[in-house]
Amino acid sequence: MKKVFITANLPGKSVELLKRDFHVEVFPEERSPTQDEILQGAKDAHALITMVADRIDKNSIDACPNLSVISNCGVGYENIDVSYATRKGIFVANTPGVLTETTADLVWALIFSVARRIVEGDLFVRERKFVGWRPTLLLGVNVHGKTLGIYGMGRIGTAAARRAKGFNMQVIYYNRKKNEEAERETGAKYVDFPTLLGESDFIVITAPLNEESRGRFGLEEFRKMKRSSVLVNVGRGQIVKEKELSLALKEGIIWGAGLDVYEREPIIEEELLNLTNVVLLPHLGSASRETREKMAEMAVESVIQTLNGKTPRNLINPEVFEMK
Ligand code: DGY
Repeated sequence: MKKVFITANLPGKSVELLKRDFHVEVFPEERSPTQDEILQGAKDAHALITMVADRIDKNSIDACPNLSVISNCGVGYENIDVSYATRKGIFVANTPGVLTETTADLVWALIFSVARRIVEGDLFVRERKFVGWRPTLLLGVNVHGKTLGIYGMGRIGTAAARRAKGFNMQVIYYNRKKNEEAERETGAKYVDFPTLLGESDFIVITAPLNEESRGRFGLEEFRKMKRSSVLVNVGRGQIVKEKELSLALKEGIIWGAGLDVYEREPIIEEELLNLTNVVLLPHLGSASRETREKMAEMAVESVIQTLNGKTPRNLINPEVFEMK
């Protein structure tokens, strides 16, 4: 019987489906497995279902001689050495599309949490400090009518921009190339990177991690942003230099930040933990029950398709056919 190794417990019933035809092993703990633990479970597996936090590099691929598919439960796949997997004739699949709207919802949860100081307000009440309405209590900044800047106008950026209409906001964006379809749909205007920094009241990072985006936001960029501005990152942590962000927040170079992803995830820059003008979430972008169940279904589907001799629907590396 072919073996499938899954590096985390998945929500929903899709794993049960796999168990009908395959031997399934699941990493049982509520934390990411170490490299050794991945190899332990994966070494004799024919298929792997991985999470975005699992690093699947050349060595891990070499250690799994039976592997025919790596199915990543997430849309990003920079955790996998895709070109090496391709050379070895291994399919790599992901779960695009299903998490777009859910992640765009979270963008707005972060925008409002930071702008209207929701987390601080909640804590204030729980600590029984609320003694009555005060005209200066926990003043935030308006969201409506402001300028939203999107860094990375892909699916999630477009979905986030679409929601801005309801708040009467102007939307500008920077992308590697113009996204005319997104412009038509959301009314967003393409600008260069310095303009995005200088004109946005809220900058939302929805870009994937690549050579252009890595380390793109640091002190130099924060200094070009408005002092009243807010940075939200739901893309990838390595796009923002976290130490420099904590300095910018501490010194009031920008007004606030909302982060769902981190440079050395799950390790978080210590300084950020002591600041009240940043809202910190544990990578919850796609974390609604409905969406996570759909992601699990898609990841499982790619494994079933591959192990039954078909091509996975969400194949990332079609070049693999040239190797076969
Ligand atoms: C992804 O899919 O890349 C997300 O970061 C996981 O929610």
